[in-house]
Amino acid sequence: MKKLTTLVITALCALTVSAQDATVKVNTTKPGYKINKEIYGQFAEHLGSCIYGGLWVGKDSQIPNIDGYRKDVFNALKDLQIPVLRWPGGCFADDYHWRDGIGPQSQRPSLRNNNWGGTMEDNSFGTHEFLNLCEMLGCEPYISGNVGSGTVEEMVKWVEYMNSESGTPMAELRKKNGREHAWNVKYFGIGNEAWGCGGNMRAEYYTDLFRRYSTYMRDYNPEKPLFLIASGSNAGDASWTEVFMKNQNGRARGLSVHYYTVKDWDNHGSATNFDAHSYYNTLALCRDIEPIIKLHSDVMDKYDPQKKVGLMADEWGTWWDEEPGTIKGHLYQQNTMRDAMVAALSLDIFHQHTDRLKMANIAQVVNVLQSMILTDQVGQGHMVLTPTYYIFKMYKPFMEATNIPVDINCQTLDVLHDDQKPAEGDNIKKLPVISCSAAKTQSGSLVIALSNVSLEKKQEVAIDLDGYKAKTVTGSVLTSKKVADYNDFQHPDVVKATDFKQAKLKGGKLTVTLPAMSTVVLELK
Ligand code: AHR
Repeated sequence: MKKLTTLVITALCALTVSAQDATVKVNTTKPGYKINKEIYGQFAEHLGSCIYGGLWVGKDSQIPNIDGYRKDVFNALKDLQIPVLRWPGGCFADDYHWRDGIGPQSQRPSLRNNNWGGTMEDNSFGTHEFLNLCEMLGCEPYISGNVGSGTVEEMVKWVEYMNSESGTPMAELRKKNGREHAWNVKYFGIGNEAWGCGGNMRAEYYTDLFRRYSTYMRDYNPEKPLFLIASGSNAGDASWTEVFMKNQNGRARGLSVHYYTVKDWDNHGSATNFDAHSYYNTLALCRDIEPIIKLHSDVMDKYDPQKKVGLMADEWGTWWDEEPGTIKGHLYQQNTMRDAMVAALSLDIFHQHTDRLKMANIAQVVNVLQSMILTDQVGQGHMVLTPTYYIFKMYKPFMEATNIPVDINCQTLDVLHDDQKPAEGDNIKKLPVISCSAAKTQSGSLVIALSNVSLEKKQEVAIDLDGYKAKTVTGSVLTSKKVADYNDFQHPDVVKATDFKQAKLKGGKLTVTLPAMSTVVLELK
């Protein structure tokens, strides 16, 4: 492996007598906050083949479908128990006019997707198709409303169309279009990236617009009031959060933040062709979401000490170069063990901040950026589950569980930001070899996630359960021979989760041998 010289093991953990490489204390007697299931949220934008060809092929397609939804994709997502799905963007949302996507599909006008490659779309996937999909998946819809190029009236009527049961003009229009009952949408975003593609606004202007739009957002169901989510800052822009929190009108229940694991926006790098340096660098970079969460949380604490407003990381994940040969602007990328590790490390971080962090939506669910699923649309259509999908599947027990803080003692790696020799003043990041989080599930079991980021060395980890009495331990592992391994249509099972047997319970202690470059999730009962 190239450039390993820039990775230096700096600190051996304070282990004197044992042969273990690392120790973890799971503080079962000091439980933290509930991990909202919405932390496991997904995002589906009209972008590339996320919607058309990914989630939706239409009823007349050769590809097996359920009322137009791809059957294989639907089943895989159902299995993931996704809690919330954000739609229709992203940048697309501020160009989207919902009335073009209702009524008979053959009569809907086409639109040019101005943000993503100029692709023409036929609007066959609209409000009904999205909300019915959420209903079938058993997840909450999260609608992102158009502030950038829309109007207050347009947004207000959309909410009436979706949430008014009967007797209003929009409820009657919905019934005419074949849907009798209101969907009772809860999560509604007032714009997306208002600082950028959502209107290039200043925080002050956006905050005033939020106040104006939210004034007219009515609740139609007292049991399920709207949960309005404001468009928040780009990564670490705390001044946006400051202005918004200080001046909003009390209607925001969530404020978004977007953070992508990107080293260089002009040169994202290949999803599959990378060296050890890039791998470690990516993992160090994905961990930067933690200081960003803290930064915004601190500002929010100042104006909202009771934590009534949630921080919503409603876009996160890796963003690589598009796969060679794919359509420019469609953000179709492969997904390797490196992406899986980014997912695991990020979820471990999210679990530590659920006092403020109430939702996170990885970008995106199918065929775009760090996706769960990749499809092709040739013939009967193929589908593969990505390594990231398996991480989400393995972590399912964390949804709605109570976070248990962990103390980790392990080696750390020095990771240079640039692929160069260390020099004085360089921005060296510390990357712990072990990432871990734990939680108590509603049924009382203890779930522990452990990742070993080392490409070469397995890690033996001794885990102190702080008095938790467990009789059994079961688990699964995700690893592969090479870090750049991925699943494709010819080789769909190169990287997949398998049963894990290297966890031993003895005298209240748990010992786990983690293979190099692996994530393990254990459940103790
Ligand atoms: O997820 C892709 C794009 O990234 C979204 O449309 C936008 O909100 C962000 O910049």
